[in-house]
Amino acid sequence: MSADQAATLFRSGMTVGMSGFTKAGDCKALPEALAQRAREDGLRLNVVTGASLGNDNDGMMAQAGLLARRMPFQADAVLRKEINDGRVMFLDQHLSETVEQLRCGSLPAIDVAVVEAVAIREDGSIVPTTSVGNTASFVQQANTVIVELNLAMPLALEGLHDIYLPEDRPQRRPIPLTSVSQRIGSSAIKVDPKRIAAIVVTNTDDSPSANLPPDEDTRAIARHVVDFFSDEVAAGRMTPSLLPLQAGIGTIANAVLHGLLESSFSGMTMYSEVLQDSSFELLDSGQFTFASASSITLSAEMNRKFLNNVERYASRLVLRPQEISNHPEIVRRLGIIGINTALEFDIYGNVNSTHVGGTHMMNGIGGSGDFARNAHLSIFVTKSVAKGGAISSIVPMVTHVDHTEHDVDVVATEWGLADLRGLAPRERAALIIERCVHPEYRDMMRSYYRRACAAGGHTPHLLAEAFEWHQRYAATGSMHERVPESV
Ligand code: COA
Repeated sequence: MSADQAATLFRSGMTVGMSGFTKAGDCKALPEALAQRAREDGLRLNVVTGASLGNDNDGMMAQAGLLARRMPFQADAVLRKEINDGRVMFLDQHLSETVEQLRCGSLPAIDVAVVEAVAIREDGSIVPTTSVGNTASFVQQANTVIVELNLAMPLALEGLHDIYLPEDRPQRRPIPLTSVSQRIGSSAIKVDPKRIAAIVVTNTDDSPSANLPPDEDTRAIARHVVDFFSDEVAAGRMTPSLLPLQAGIGTIANAVLHGLLESSFSGMTMYSEVLQDSSFELLDSGQFTFASASSITLSAEMNRKFLNNVERYASRLVLRPQEISNHPEIVRRLGIIGINTALEFDIYGNVNSTHVGGTHMMNGIGGSGDFARNAHLSIFVTKSVAKGGAISSIVPMVTHVDHTEHDVDVVATEWGLADLRGLAPRERAALIIERCVHPEYRDMMRSYYRRACAAGGHTPHLLAEAFEWHQRYAATGSMHERVPESV
């Protein structure tokens, strides 16, 4: 069918499960055809994906008025505005949990699954492309399945995927995955061909990642993290192959991983949800021996290189459903080192990764919580200031909490790293202030903390003042009591 014909299969109010995870393996034709229906006849859908979509599809669907509800993650400026203006109801979820909630009926059932494939086998089973995300569960649960067969994707992708879905509770058994490279499922998504209502042929690449290259600050953050790993190895708590690494989306986490290229660590593995350019650089350098994830999101140049050489990487890569790549059971078992990015963290180590000023959604929590809570080491990184120094990323109290102090072992900025393990709140605060806060904001923070301690408490705070920095930024355009000169 054409995409326009396939779009006639939808009715307002339906819940649609679409493939796509951080711009990888998303559908290329149906989003536009559905948006066109929204413009013409007011079609409104609840759209569930793996994570964010590429090709500006999230923004385009939002602008057309197609999206009534959207979950579990997005990273699009236009959709972000629709969410923050209250026009799209956004559910910001731990990425491992969405299909669990669908499976047990806590969320409305998937009516239609729209999934990208590189091939459909003779038995009807679907071979995904550059992500698995929630696709296998959408296909399993939906009444109707629409496949977008993307001719731009190389057939060599077949064999990269490992599709394993946990059994329903309460009969569920342990997930039998005990090493990063293990395969526990099938290489395609099984589906009764009778449920495939349409096959739409496309020929479009994934859109490239928008990560910026490492800069002076992100290189400094990477150095602190690498030095910390070296200390862990020297102390005998890890071997030079470390433990399986997870790195979050975005410029900063990608740059931290990039920093490992200059380290002496070898024999490393990755157990993450997204593989970015840095993961492939480490596979190329031989320092990574294996990488497991749920999607591959690369710059245009790295993507071309990967797609032209899939065979070269195939024996060292696997793509899994996101509930397996992010599964708390596996993260705890493997002893993952989770490296994720904060928008802001506070002097006690509580992290806000999602809400600017406590109110405005940036992207979503993504998988950071799946990993942070269960990781062997949970590391959060950020630049010490944002918006040219007008915002301190370390604040007295975060305005929204995604990761509590209980889930955070280490925090780092370009100024230094604070190892919070084994420290009480007052010890954590002293270390974070001296190691991580930008020098322009350090005296202000010392003053806040000193006065808070005088007022007492296990976790001292001055409640009337705790959000004063944010209020000052909103009122004057800077968190600083005076406009800093050198930032
Ligand atoms: N207050 C307001 N804005 C802030 C800020 C703060 N404290 N700190 C950073 N920002 C802004 C930056 O200025 C930048 O804005 P711009 O796009 O207008 O330039 C934007 O946030 C992104 O920051 P950047 O420094 O470029 O970092 P990044 O690309 O590494 O992204 C997050 C950082 C936190 C937005 C991103 O990592 C994220 O969405 N994390 C949550 C999801 C997650 O961790 N998933 C991990 C599992 S994959």
